[in-house]
Formats: sequence, C-alpha cells, structure tokens
Amino acid sequence: MHGMAKDVTRKGTWQTSLGRKVIMGLTGILLIGYLIIHLTANLLVFAGDGGRLLNLYSHSLHQLGPLLFVARIALAALFIFHIITGIRVVIQNRKARSTRYTMAASKGGPSKMTPASRWMAITGLILLFFVPWHVNMFTLGPYYETVIDGVPMRDLYRLVVERFKDPAIAFTYAAVMLFLCMHLAHGFWSALQSLGALNRRWLPVAYTVGVILAILVAGGFFILPLYTYFFVPMPA
Ligand code: HEM
Repeated sequence: MHGMAKDVTRKGTWQTSLGRKVIMGLTGILLIGYLIIHLTANLLVFAGDGGRLLNLYSHSLHQLGPLLFVARIALAALFIFHIITGIRVVIQNRKARSTRYTMAASKGGPSKMTPASRWMAITGLILLFFVPWHVNMFTLGPYYETVIDGVPMRDLYRLVVERFKDPAIAFTYAAVMLFLCMHLAHGFWSALQSLGALNRRWLPVAYTVGVILAILVAGGFFILPLYTYFFVPMPA
C-alpha cells in the first residue's frame, strides 16, 4: 500500500502544472537551440556560391550516418514532447477557466488563459501545421544530385531555390515566420521563468533578450525565402 502511494505521488509530479511547465521550458529552450543552428546553416544560401557551402555542410551531416539518425529521433522526440505537453497545458487552463467561470460567473468569469498564453496556443498550432509541411518539402523532397570536388551529393540548394521561386511558398513561409517570432518572443521568457531561472530583477532583462532573439531568429528565416524569391538565380 505504502509503495503504491509513493508511485502515485511520483507520477503526480509530472502531471502537475509545474511539472508540465518544466517540460515545456526545457524542450522549448532545446528547440530554440536547434533553430539557431538550423538558421546558421541556412544562411549559407546567402554565400552566393551556387550552393557549394550549403551542400557541403548538408553532405557532411549525412556522412554521420547512424549518429544523424539518432539526432533526428531526439529532435522529433523534443517536438512531440513540446507539442503534447503544450496541448495538455491548454486543456488544463481551459478546465481551470470553466471551474472559475462557474464559481465567479456574476463577476464576468476571470480567464486563466491570458492573451499571451492564447497567442502561444494559436501560433503553436500554426507551427504544428508548418513543420510537417516543411520537412515533407525538404528532407523528404526530391533527391537532386550534384558533384562537388568530384564527390556526388544531394543538391539541397537547388531544391531550396526551386521551392522559394514559387511565390505562394516563399510568401507563406515569410508569413509563418511572423508567428514564429511571436511564439519565440514569449516562449523564451516563459521558459526561463518556468525553469525558475528568474527573479524579479531579471524578468525584464530576460523579456528583452527573448524579444531580440526572436527577431533575429525569425527575422533570418523571414528574409531567406523572400531574398531567394527576388534575388537568387535558379542554378543552371
Ligand atoms: C527559410 C526557412 C527555412 C529553410 C530554408 C529551411 C531549410 C531546411 C532544409 C533544407 C531541410 C532539410 C535538411 C536535410 O534534409 O538535410 C530542413 C529540415 C528541417 N527543418 Fe528547416 N528550414 C527553414 C525553417 C525552419 C523552421 C522555422 C523550422 C522549425 C520551426 C524548421 C525545422 C526543420 C526540421 C525539424 C527539419 C528536419 C530535420 C532534418 O531533416 O534533419 N525549419 N530545413
């Protein structure tokens, strides 16, 4: 009996709103880390070298073989944890709201879903549709081949430029990045707060850093498709 009670308590830790917030914060910070690396690599499109560096970079990643496989599984797990926990937080907030609403109906029913958390849910949902569309377009897209320094490899650069020459794709990407910016701006600050990293003094600093980081990361991803659409020539 005693053992059972202990188990329930342990399970309960991750079922609490604090446990969920910690998962959101940790997975969120790691996903931001991935996005920074992903953007840095993608900025190679601006190198103006006909895709040489971008393709070499991607080829060197693919040389990692099983290690790349493990990294991709870990990345997918991060996304899935982040999304499932996010959905549970939304459900939990809605429940809390409806209980409070019945209790305080005459006072207008204070909402636990703050404008910020509502925006996190909406922008998160947009990204939930974007990421599979994106992975299907590039990772799982057609395999064009090129030869660099005598080595045959995937021509991802051609695929990226070809896709972004379609105005529907380029402008949809740019629009989605505006939502990414909002998601990151609030997410970074909120993650640090959930992880208990902030006291009152550091709150505004973290908020400013989060907004700057969001503008830099989402801004880079925003400019890329538009720059490619307007200025990058289609490879021969
Ligand atoms: C202009 C914007 C972007 C460009 C040009 C771009 C480019 C690419 C390319 C070329 C790949 C395929 C990599 C490969 O197969 O080796 C890829 C994969 C991926 N991208 Fe992006 N990306 C952009 C924005 C984003 C954003 C905003 C997110 C997340 C919110 C994202 C998440 C991913 C994920 C999860 C993968 C799969 C990882 C993998 O294939 O190993 N990307 N991206």
